[in-house]
Amino acid sequence: MRILVVGKGGREHALVRALVESPGTPEVFCFPGSDAIFELAQPVAAEGLESLIEWMKSNAIDLCVAGEESYLVKGEGLANLCEKNGIPCWGPPKESAQLEASKEFAKEFLVRNSIPTAHATATDTLEEAVAVIGGEYPTVLKFDGLAAGKGVAVCPDETSALEFLDEVFTKRRFGSGRVLVEQCLTGPEVSVFAAIIDDQYLIFTPARDYKRAGDGDVGPNTGGMGAVASRQLVSQDILEVIEKQIVQQTVAGLRCESLPYRGFLYFGIMLTPTGPQVIEYNCRFGDPECQAVMPLVRGDLAGFCLAGANGVLNKDLISFDDGWSVCVILASAGYPETSRNGDRISGIDKITNARVYHSGTRATSEGNWETNGGRVLAVVSGGGTREEAVIKAHAAVDFIQFDGLQRRRDIGILNFD
Ligand code: AMP
Ligand code: GLY
Repeated sequence: MRILVVGKGGREHALVRALVESPGTPEVFCFPGSDAIFELAQPVAAEGLESLIEWMKSNAIDLCVAGEESYLVKGEGLANLCEKNGIPCWGPPKESAQLEASKEFAKEFLVRNSIPTAHATATDTLEEAVAVIGGEYPTVLKFDGLAAGKGVAVCPDETSALEFLDEVFTKRRFGSGRVLVEQCLTGPEVSVFAAIIDDQYLIFTPARDYKRAGDGDVGPNTGGMGAVASRQLVSQDILEVIEKQIVQQTVAGLRCESLPYRGFLYFGIMLTPTGPQVIEYNCRFGDPECQAVMPLVRGDLAGFCLAGANGVLNKDLISFDDGWSVCVILASAGYPETSRNGDRISGIDKITNARVYHSGTRATSEGNWETNGGRVLAVVSGGGTREEAVIKAHAAVDFIQFDGLQRRRDIGILNFD
């Protein structure tokens, strides 16, 4: 089997590794990929979506796996182009990927399909947003488009709300678009991933990510400073509610609204005092949740995704380890406001008790690794208990050094005491 993975970060490094390790040793390619990914997968000579499709056709690719969301909504859409050219694709077409690309589309879908979610109103101007907020704080403001994780502000007061609205409507930081004013929910968050194949689904191991830059959940929001994954993260009762009220309702909604879906769907969920509610959909696996979840997947992920892309849910091909997995992100100097490239990384080769996925690194001509992005590495360890996974992951991180290294020391610990 010949598989192409689309993306270049730590999530794709973890996906590529899980696919390469699948039985039958599939041949894996990656676009655009990274130096670390190319130690496992082969690079692709293509520029842009159209030439990528041509490349897949002339290289007899059996399966395209969408790691990253942007290609799903670019141009005609990765999955749409694959379908047109007869290439099975694990990832949804553009019309369905609006669930991630447009928060307003997602909110309307949730409401139409009676899926529990926070109340929200779309606004077109700063004045309108202020009027809708009506002086009620805290409030949540969401830019209606892809904004690389920066498009949401939880505002405790008017000053922070005006600051965000000014960025969106006056400075047009994310381009043109509306803002949803949303009711602020409270409670622990959980990321639930399902493989959706038309009207069928399989729920993967739930995870939780740590979005704030600093220990104790302080500091600015980031793409994620770490994650913890386990079946035991959510009680059986709550998982049943999530499955019935959220996952099944979503699958039924997609069907009823003629939105085709074959791929991973990420449900960002808040466990509020009145029950689980959806705060967002993403049409892909989470990053860094993927790095935590993939080591818990047993069996034939490649076969599972290929069958799925062809419309068959084959639950027997994979299973999930019962234990815990902890993923600690190492970020570069300045992250998340900026990032610094070119800092020499040492110590990766000393790690024996953990997996290291590369989020933003490059290889130097002398064969060393250096930083090349905000999030640099993800160090992941597993264990039968959370405590074991925590100790192993944090101990492994201690081997790694580079100038300006930032990490959290409470990943897998905070919110469990
Ligand atoms: P999103 O990009 O939609 O996942 O939002 C980023 C983060 O903002 C979420 O992980 C939550 O921590 C927070 N958030 C989003 N929506 C709400 C809400 N309605 N109430 C409280 N917090 C929220
Ligand atoms: N970890 C959050 C995300 O992947 O969007």
